Amino acid sequence: MSTVVIVGTQWGDEGKGKIVDFLTERADVVARYQGGNNAGHTVVINNEKYILHLIPSGVLHKGKKCIIGNGVVIDPAALIEEMDGLREKGINVDDNLLIAKNAHVIMPYHMAIERESENKKGNKKIGTTGRGIGPSYTDKVARYGIRMMDLPAPDIFREKLTANLSAVNFLLENLYKAAPLNADEIYAQYMKYAERLSRYITDTDVFINNEIDSKRNVLFEGAQGTLLDVDHGTYPFVTSSNTIAGGACTGLGVGPTKINKVLGIAKAYTTRVGEGPFPTELKDELGESIRQKGGEFGATTGRARRCGWLDILILKHAIRINGLTGIALTKLDILDGFDKLKICVGYKYNGKLYEEFPKEIEVLTHCEPVYVEVKGWKESTLGIKEFDKLPANARKYIKKIEKMLKIKVQIISTGQKRDEIIVLKEQF
Ligand code: IMP
Repeated sequence: MSTVVIVGTQWGDEGKGKIVDFLTERADVVARYQGGNNAGHTVVINNEKYILHLIPSGVLHKGKKCIIGNGVVIDPAALIEEMDGLREKGINVDDNLLIAKNAHVIMPYHMAIERESENKKGNKKIGTTGRGIGPSYTDKVARYGIRMMDLPAPDIFREKLTANLSAVNFLLENLYKAAPLNADEIYAQYMKYAERLSRYITDTDVFINNEIDSKRNVLFEGAQGTLLDVDHGTYPFVTSSNTIAGGACTGLGVGPTKINKVLGIAKAYTTRVGEGPFPTELKDELGESIRQKGGEFGATTGRARRCGWLDILILKHAIRINGLTGIALTKLDILDGFDKLKICVGYKYNGKLYEEFPKEIEVLTHCEPVYVEVKGWKESTLGIKEFDKLPANARKYIKKIEKMLKIKVQIISTGQKRDEIIVLKEQF
């Protein structure tokens, strides 16, 4: 038995969905521990594309228990839409979905506040996904949050809603000069959601710990990536949760002694959506060609992702912060056809060379990346399943990364489909 955390090492969109889907084959339980429907995990099975936002990608395998943990913030409308969409494609979540009683609920006023506050920030905006994620976590920490267990308790729900809305409407009307929201409408809408969702709401911490004690294989599915972590990312251009491996403990109620492995998912290059610094960003045709070839458009918002070279400082940071035990390198095939590839090994700023990822936004924004160049490869790596069949220069690229990072690449993804993968080390 084993427990494995899957975590993004960059700014999200590393291809975690596919790796989780692949590893789920041998897992009994798959659990999401943070984020909300700001995430978008794309999985392709038999040429059918599935985009999941809230439900763990494990749901695409029959009979696996899927948990939405307490660290997740849940928009009930989005969750119901996702469940219905899956049902239309023949995937029934009914017997396998468990939702934490103590997960927080995203309310319409969270989206309203986010929209207004982003607008007010002008060119200082974060570039959020607009799903109400930040304001929902704000309420959680401020202890005003409404939790999933409040949905089947109409009186408690109504009391909290009324109290929260009086404060929110004051802000909307007076600070943002926006229209107030109506408590009765929200109440009626959310009571309908309660009817649909109540049967799944349970003590997921008890369930998951029992599963671990019964020696089942458990996969912890992180959303976003290390650099979007509210503590360890490029603050303030981050999401509002702990995206790192430690988030699996708080976001599910599982002790750190119960976690066996942490697999970091790293794209063979780097991307970022939204605002904020990105030292190795390619703002030229090269970046555009990676974007087009890699289909680098957000699974949630459709926004174009910014693209750039692989950054060793970021990966070293991710290895440290998450305690990675291995790396899964994704989208290697997108780098096919380049004469040369660059790998960032340092940043220069104000005459100083940085070899570790700096915390200062000022440094990250204005630094000059220091690169090493390696030879590219002309052959296609699409769908290759054995390491030895990769072009020699692709093997060298991977070996170089391993040497620089002092960690093993255990999985290589060579395409979108489930079986386009090289497995060098099993996780379960
Ligand atoms: P929020 O999570 O909607 O508050 O957005 C905060 C920042 O995180 C923005 O830059 C978003 O683009 C980014 N972000 C949130 N979720 C994802 C994701 O799943 N992939 C990539 N970026 C994300």
